[in-house]
Amino acid sequence: MAYHIQSQNLCVKPTPYSDRLLQVTISKEGIAQFLKEIEIYPVQALEYKSFLRFRVAQILDRICDHQLKPFLERALGDRDAGALLVNPEGINRAEQGDEMVKIATAFVHLIGRSNFDQMTGQYYARWAVLNTDNSDSYLRKPDKPLELHNDGTYVNEVTDYVLMYKIDEQNMEGGDSQLLHLDDWEDLGKFYNHHMAKRVMRWAAPPSKNVTQDVYHPVFEADSHAKPVMLYIDQFAQPKDYEEGVYLADLGDSLESSKHKLSFPVPVGQFLLINNLFWLHGRDKFKPHAGLRRELMRQRGYFSFSTNPFSRYKNFKNF
Ligand SMILES: [Fe+2]
Repeated sequence: MAYHIQSQNLCVKPTPYSDRLLQVTISKEGIAQFLKEIEIYPVQALEYKSFLRFRVAQILDRICDHQLKPFLERALGDRDAGALLVNPEGINRAEQGDEMVKIATAFVHLIGRSNFDQMTGQYYARWAVLNTDNSDSYLRKPDKPLELHNDGTYVNEVTDYVLMYKIDEQNMEGGDSQLLHLDDWEDLGKFYNHHMAKRVMRWAAPPSKNVTQDVYHPVFEADSHAKPVMLYIDQFAQPKDYEEGVYLADLGDSLESSKHKLSFPVPVGQFLLINNLFWLHGRDKFKPHAGLRRELMRQRGYFSFSTNPFSRYKNFKNF
């Protein structure tokens, strides 16, 4: 699908990594104007008054000549694309974290609304990865890869999109972002047509996630165009027996060995915004270093635009 953009502040082109992954640039001037216009709204105001998240979205869309909202709706719903690497120019220092929260908020509130993040008690989460860590999942473990997965697998909320922002990075070697589009996965047919694909399984998170309720759903569903969509994560699946366990283990091995997995660095100050239903994401391991520091932000939520078929899947919603 071609995207015709006519705005000096918005530029879209394919990335060198894949035609499905689009590079979106918001000009330095546009970002500066946006931040100036919303100076009256500190991050705390966006936290307390949720309708202000839509106000800042409206302002960013106006600065992009009303081209950003329709572009995001088309690109994120487009089965052949659905993934963006976004560069808001000029905002790329760790101390600009609040500005990054505002920019991310504006983007996603043009297409839907971010869910409450149980890990932090806000509509977004910011956290740091350091060289030492004793957490109970691989989210903060530097020396372990985060294997390919979908988000929102263990909560009772629809998670159509995931936004992942790189706020800071020091003494990093490795740690590339990884993505796989479902239609590029060599074994999609094998696992989607398997009799376990629609089996309702149990998913449960460790204590740090602050989610106490288990959820139940299958790994695969079909969207309204009969295309496969997926809701899977290796760490939190709780197979009840040998058959479920072996199916999931085989599926995890197959995803990780896919030759079509994209692996690339996300520069500080840029973020990924992906359709969570037909893109899997992960992160490569990185080298331990005493001064290692990485700070990230995420927002996850649902699409509200009416043409989106992916919020209509019933079994993922019917937890
Ligand atoms: Fe994730």
